Amino acid sequence: MTSRIAIDGKRLLQRLDDFARIGATPAGGVNRQALSPEDRASRRLLADLALQRGFRVFQDSMANLFIRREGRLPARAPLVIGSHLDSQPTGGRFDGALGTLAAFEVMESIADAGIETDLSLEVVAWTNEEGSRFAPGAMGSMAFAAGAIPDAWSDLRGRDGSLFVDELSATLQALPEAEMRPLGFPICGYLELHIEQGPSLERENIPIGIVHGIQGTRWLEVTIKGQAAHAGTTALEFRRDPMAAAVAALEPLYKSAMPSDQYARFTVGRIAVEPGAVNAIPGSVTFSIDLRHPETAVIDALEDRVRLSCDSAAAAAGCESELRQIFDMPPAAFSEDLLACLDRAAASLGLKAKHMLSGAFHDALFVNRVAPAAMIFVPCRDGLSHNEAEYVEPEHSIAGARMLLAATMEAIAVRA
Ligand code: GLV
Ligand code: MN
Ligand code: MN
Repeated sequence: MTSRIAIDGKRLLQRLDDFARIGATPAGGVNRQALSPEDRASRRLLADLALQRGFRVFQDSMANLFIRREGRLPARAPLVIGSHLDSQPTGGRFDGALGTLAAFEVMESIADAGIETDLSLEVVAWTNEEGSRFAPGAMGSMAFAAGAIPDAWSDLRGRDGSLFVDELSATLQALPEAEMRPLGFPICGYLELHIEQGPSLERENIPIGIVHGIQGTRWLEVTIKGQAAHAGTTALEFRRDPMAAAVAALEPLYKSAMPSDQYARFTVGRIAVEPGAVNAIPGSVTFSIDLRHPETAVIDALEDRVRLSCDSAAAAAGCESELRQIFDMPPAAFSEDLLACLDRAAASLGLKAKHMLSGAFHDALFVNRVAPAAMIFVPCRDGLSHNEAEYVEPEHSIAGARMLLAATMEAIAVRA
């Protein structure tokens, strides 16, 4: 049946260009942060395209956006395919958008071919995958999997000071045509296409990655408190300098965390210095740590090392250190069933594919908690992502969409 359905590559590439104009940055990327006016505009465009095609459009209380094409068995849980439309502040055109628009292209091409599927098919655009305006990331899929919005988000503020619940409700109101539905309805499976965001497919010249799991991620926030004092008059013995402590704490971690384990990832991406004056020793330094590894036990051990290093460097500088876990995503193993569908899809299309683990987290990790999930990766130039220069060759975007279509039809056949 799949052979009668064809992805319209030209239409997909045009859509990628159309969405890249929403929040376009001068350097060729996008700034379409979660729940911003630009994010709302992209949701509006997708909803309009769907309504024009006669598909039904829904949103839940997290503003996750769903587009539904009814199957022959409408009472059965649908198969869901998609990704996200929000971006990093200096994000690329493909991270999230490719998976969402390819999923919509799959739905359209099935409709174009006049094929009725047994199960209903839904395309999803999850809210706030990136976590850069409002943290944590993947809030939409996390709440969907939990079936509830965590209480802690009721007073959550974004980096720009905006209140999450206000921006969420403005986003919901901006799409009155979407029918409201409960958060966390039953689904029978989830497939997500995404760019690899790393270099291995490109280096090995393989167009398709079949993603069997996602490594674990843990976000920590460390605050080292010392004493603010005059930069010019305070001699060394009187200083309680939290910046000196932070540098001393981080140096051995940089030297050991990644060099001693090729799978470990250790990143300090954000640092805030108070009061932030050139001529004042800081009163406090707060920094983030992003830890990743395929094994939870190793992430636990890395966290212990971070705590020890910060405590001892703080004590040596007459400061105090506090460590808080702000986000914890255990590693995920995807569904064997859906991986077999992906293997068959690649074989039927004659596409070379390799099995791989995702270094980045994705909405699929959360959906995998409530339904079988799996992912497809396509190469991106130089493995570069979270960067305005992010680029995917047109033929790779199209191959990814063809893979998603074939896997969708396989999954519907298996799950129906
Ligand atoms: C997702 O954007 C991640 O940080 O892995
Ligand atoms: Mn993404
Ligand atoms: Mn991203």
